[in-house]
Amino acid sequence: MMGRAALSEGAAALASVSDTPFLDASLLLARALGTSRERVLAMGPEALDEAGEAAFRGLIARRISGEPVAYILGAKEFRGLEFRVDARVLCPRPDTEPLVETALEAALSLSAAGRAPVRIHDAFTGSGAVAVALAAELGDGASVSMSDLSPDALVLARENAGMLLGRELPARLSDCLEGVEGPFDLVTANPPYVTSSFCDGIYAAGGREPRLALDGGADGLDLYRRLVPRTRGLLSPGGVLAVEIGDEQGAAVSALFAEAGFAELAVLRDLAGRDRVVRGRAP
Ligand SMILES: C[S@@+](CC[C@H](N)C(=O)[O-])C[C@H]1O[C@@H](n2cnc3c(N)ncnc32)[C@H](O)[C@@H]1O
Repeated sequence: MMGRAALSEGAAALASVSDTPFLDASLLLARALGTSRERVLAMGPEALDEAGEAAFRGLIARRISGEPVAYILGAKEFRGLEFRVDARVLCPRPDTEPLVETALEAALSLSAAGRAPVRIHDAFTGSGAVAVALAAELGDGASVSMSDLSPDALVLARENAGMLLGRELPARLSDCLEGVEGPFDLVTANPPYVTSSFCDGIYAAGGREPRLALDGGADGLDLYRRLVPRTRGLLSPGGVLAVEIGDEQGAAVSALFAEAGFAELAVLRDLAGRDRVVRGRAP
């Protein structure tokens, strides 16, 4: 089979299981051929060899069975860094970029107010995507730590920190910040916030990511109810909590911030105009 034809055929096969079938097919073809996506896209009419074609078909079959491309490749790019990911963690998503942007802005303003290095804790860290991205982007301006309830996720978060930063980040096994000691100037969190019933649908349709990473209880808000008051006690005066939310959770999560005594509340949107982050400041 010709390379170009393989790509079109692979994309067509993935159309019913992926929102990005061409992207997925090109990444999988690159993996099957041991080359880059750029070279795959520049392929002429040359034929695939038998081994390459068989490998590509195998990867397409895995994707059709519901396995995310990031798990198949064992890697996912986030904020220009290539994170190691597998079935132990949620795949980092572009949806989480606004949380990182919000945290960077808060860290820079805290630092300008004389708080350097800014003490940052990333709760619900999963692959470590947010913690490692912040540590990479802020350098010496921040000291970053992370926590998660899943021991498996923490192993991967530690690996990602070592691989991408060349150093360790303090990492703690913790149920919603229990046992984590502050004070921090900034706490970030992307907790599970999908409703349990929506999760049931995801797994009925073959979802592969850990339920622990997605299921936020009956209304999706269980973890915010615990996280927001607990964080209030861990923040230094003027410290900031920034959390990712589902696009219909802005009002409910802001109310939890207000109840816990946070000030300067803001609901921030992503590029598509959807509510994506709630931020508040400890008095
Ligand atoms: C939505 S994922 C976020 C992963 C990562 N921060 C990201 O943005 O890609 C949520 C994470 O919360 C963790 N988690 C679930 N329940 C928890 C709890 N009670 N305490 C701490 N972590 C928890 C899961 O193991 C998972 O890694």
